[in-house]
Amino acid sequence: MWRHYSGRVLPRITATAYLTPLREGGSLPAIMEADDLGTYVVKFSGAGQGTKALVAEIIVAGLARRAGLRTPELALIDVAAEIARTEPDDEVQRLITASVGTNLAVDFLPGSIGFDRGFPVDRAIASTLVWLDAWTANVDRSLRNTNLLIWHRELWAIDHGACLRFHHAWGRPESFAEAPYNYGDHVLSGRADPRGVHDQLAARFDEAVLDAILADVPDAWLLPEPERPDPAAPPDPAAARIAYRDYLLARLAAADRWLR
Ligand SMILES: Nc1ncnc2c1ncn2[C@@H]1O[C@H](COP(=O)(O)OP(=O)(O)O)[C@@H](O)[C@H]1O
Ligand SMILES: [Mg+2]
Repeated sequence: MWRHYSGRVLPRITATAYLTPLREGGSLPAIMEADDLGTYVVKFSGAGQGTKALVAEIIVAGLARRAGLRTPELALIDVAAEIARTEPDDEVQRLITASVGTNLAVDFLPGSIGFDRGFPVDRAIASTLVWLDAWTANVDRSLRNTNLLIWHRELWAIDHGACLRFHHAWGRPESFAEAPYNYGDHVLSGRADPRGVHDQLAARFDEAVLDAILADVPDAWLLPEPERPDPAAPPDPAAARIAYRDYLLARLAAADRWLR
């Protein structure tokens, strides 16, 4: 059974072995073992997308859980340079070297398969998923690249790194809040009624709930990135958490602009 949102900070674990790279996605995540004897998909802080992708993963997984969707458990995983020593692949070596320290671990769902259109999805779940993706501006749930897994006959949402694109160029909250959503590109939009679930879902997200979810993001990933200068970026982690909260609440309040 998946964990209901409980507001605790993420567990910290340490990587003990690099098993295999996952080459379907663009960010070269890897399956790794950790000192809690768990197996995880690790998303690296040194990947091209930068730590913002990891921030979006944590926040949107927290929102998904609070909305009642299934998404794998997350942890923060410490990766040491030695873990790459026996890896023959240069690209993997470089990525791990660039990622020494804290990374994001996603609980590996063994035996899960990628979503295919023949799988029957409950209308309430489809509506909730499409609503969440529209709220967070997720562009990564297309027919070609669904980022949905079937595991134990249930639908699991993964890969939220492309959500919350406003953090790549902080600016006017309205431009994010009011941006339309491209429903035509969403694999489940034909089976969903996001407008029908809006009131009930929006009521689950107030300042306190968002603050608790944002507390899961490590401070280090909320600092301005010197290699990607943005004069409008929040200057410190506390300001960043408030900004994420305000952008998300502003988009909820502007739902008439993006709801379908
Ligand atoms: N928790 C998981 N359990 C099992 N397989 C996973 C899990 N997370 C990701 N995968 C597999 O790895 C692939 C890449 O992961 P994803 O999170 O989508 O990264 P990317 O950002 O590279 O697209 C997925 O398409 C899926 O096949
Ligand atoms: Mg993906």
